[in-house]
Amino acid sequence: MTRIVSFSESGLDLGDLHGAMLAAFSDYIVPLQPDAATFRAALTSRGFDPEASFVAVEEGDIVGFWNVAKRGTKRYLIGSGTRIGSRGQGLASRLGKAAIQAAQNSGTDSFWLEVIEGNTGAERLYRKLGFAVTRKLDCYRLDHPSPDRSSCELSDFGTVANIIQRYSSWKPTWQNAKETICGAQLTSFLHDRGGVIIGAGGLVHQIAASETSALEDVIATAATVGSLTLVNVDSADSALFSLLQELGAHRFIVQSEMRLSL
Ligand SMILES: CC(C)(COP(=O)(O)OP(=O)(O)OC[C@H]1O[C@@H](n2cnc3c(N)ncnc32)[C@H](O)[C@@H]1OP(=O)(O)O)[C@@H](O)C(=O)NCCC(=O)NCCS
Repeated sequence: MTRIVSFSESGLDLGDLHGAMLAAFSDYIVPLQPDAATFRAALTSRGFDPEASFVAVEEGDIVGFWNVAKRGTKRYLIGSGTRIGSRGQGLASRLGKAAIQAAQNSGTDSFWLEVIEGNTGAERLYRKLGFAVTRKLDCYRLDHPSPDRSSCELSDFGTVANIIQRYSSWKPTWQNAKETICGAQLTSFLHDRGGVIIGAGGLVHQIAASETSALEDVIATAATVGSLTLVNVDSADSALFSLLQELGAHRFIVQSEMRLSL
């Protein structure tokens, strides 16, 4: 018999959850097999909440999971998966319903997630649970042809986050939001008409500027840290899109952001 319980009630640990994650994502649409330390760090940085997260347990093993984060009146699905041998039995549906019910019981107003374009099984599951697409998001890799930091200065996270918020026409997704990244090791560059916040490995968390020429400067500055990865850029940001195309950026994933209003 399969039990659906919150992770905190399951009596299992993050090592067990990591094992289940590796098995469930072994045939994922993109390679995703983090080591134990990377897996823990990713959960921590996104605000994994053991009480809001649910697991399917069979004979002491996790066979499915919904890893959830909480922030104020919002919840976010960090990741969901079912081991290959346990799929097609409704486990992900039961996990999703349990996580949504728990959210509803504690005054949550909306549940958010992202799903990679082409992962039709997962998208269909989320739609069946009531989620709807709010916007499309692009992920890019960029080796800038001519990095140049002359137009920007290093500054503190709060100052740069504020200027980005002023100039950006869209809100960052959960994983790039101020509250998620504020504890991380960050490099923040300030331009007089924009800014950029970069994390480990050249991951661009937030970027915005008042106009294209300022945006060009900001990207050239960001590139002085090395190769850049931009995860979850709003597809509707045509200025950023055109500039990244011009600079030869490679779009490696398109995602849908989905929301369930409760
Ligand atoms: C997506 C995933 C979690 C579904 O798990 P599952 O336990 O097999 O899902 P369920 O049995 O509860 O199926 C629920 C619904 O999802 C949809 N679905 C699931 N797998 C599907 C597939 N391969 N093709 C089409 N629809 C699928 C169906 O609508 C299904 O309902 P239905 O059978 O009544 O039509 C699982 O396939 C998985 O772990 N995939 C790899 C990791 C992954 O993609 N995670 C999601 C990241 S966003």
